[in-house]
Parts: sequence; C-alpha cells; structure tokens
Amino acid sequence: MSDIRLLEQFLIKGKNVVITGGARGLGLNFAHGLAQAGANIAAIDVSDKPGGGFDTLSRYGGTYKYYTADVRDYQGLKKVIDQISQDFGSIDGWYVWKSMCRPGSHMKHSGGRHHPGHPFSGASTGRF
Ligand SMILES: NC(=O)c1ccc[n+]([C@@H]2O[C@H](COP(=O)([O-])OP(=O)(O)OC[C@H]3O[C@@H](n4cnc5c(N)ncnc54)[C@H](O)[C@@H]3O)[C@@H](O)[C@H]2O)c1
Repeated sequence: MSDIRLLEQFLIKGKNVVITGGARGLGLNFAHGLAQAGANIAAIDVSDKPGGGFDTLSRYGGTYKYYTADVRDYQGLKKVIDQISQDFGSIDGWYVWKSMCRPGSHMKHSGGRHHPGHPFSGASTGRF
C-alpha cells in the first residue's frame, strides 16, 4: 500500500458521523467542522428541535439529519441508532459531546463523574 493510500484512510470525507449533544454549542460547532471536511452528520440531542445554525450544515453538500433521544435512556438511544444506521447505511464515527454530568442525580446512579450516556453511546454503536 502506498503512503498516499494510507493517508486516505484518515480522511473523513463521505464518512457517517454521529454527534450527541448536536443541537447547539460544542456539538453543533463540531458538526460544522466535520461537515466542512466532507462528513455526513447524524446529530442526536434531547431537545425536540435543533438550535439555529443546524440547517446551515446543508451548505457543505453532505447529508445531515437530526434525531431526538436522551443519551441516558439506553433503549431509546438504541432505537435511534438503529434508525441512523438504516438512514445512512453505516456509522463510521461517534463524537460524544453530551456524556458528562454535574454533581447530582446522575452520579447517584452511575457512581462516578460520567453519566451513562458515554457507555450507552458506545454500547449501542459498537454493534455496527
Ligand atoms: N463549553 C465549554 O467550554 C466546555 C468545556 C468543557 C466541557 N464541556 C462539556 O461539554 C459538553 C457540551 O458543552 P456545551 O457548551 O456545548 O453545552 P450546551 O449546553 O451548549 O450543549 C449541550 C447539548 O447537549 C444536549 N443534551 C443535554 N442533555 C442531554 C441528554 N441527556 N441527551 C442528549 N442530549 C443532551 C443539550 O440539549 C444541548 O443541545 C457539556 O457536557 C459540557 O459540560 C464544555
């Protein structure tokens, strides 16, 4: 394999990427960066609708879709991941911008700093 082919494997163009917390903030901004580099975006967020700026992902020419799910709800997340896999044909990458929690209710259940969004995201995507 030539060096050029090896580098091509690191390109994100045409890859299908899932972003949790993708309605706004860091997740949405990261979505723009990845879309600009040629990735297709599947954004998951607990909000019913994405914030302003989500629809402008269309300017990069790829596919972008928005899905509502709470990353703490494994069954709900699994259902959405199945739908994304069906809609996009594959899932090539995952960026978790929503998995952390502040001290409070989630910590009581997870026993640590991260709430289950992180392992749930990994577990549900690892099937593909
Ligand atoms: N902004 C920073 O400088 C910074 C620095 C370090 C860490 N962080 C962490 O990174 C994450 C994103 O930061 P941000 O500034 O973009 O926050 P933000 O509040 O602007 O965006 C978070 C997004 O996650 C969604 N969300 C919240 N709970 C969810 C859930 N249970 N399931 C699915 N989606 C959910 C929200 O609806 C929102 O769209 C946060 O966890 C934050 O604590 C942020």
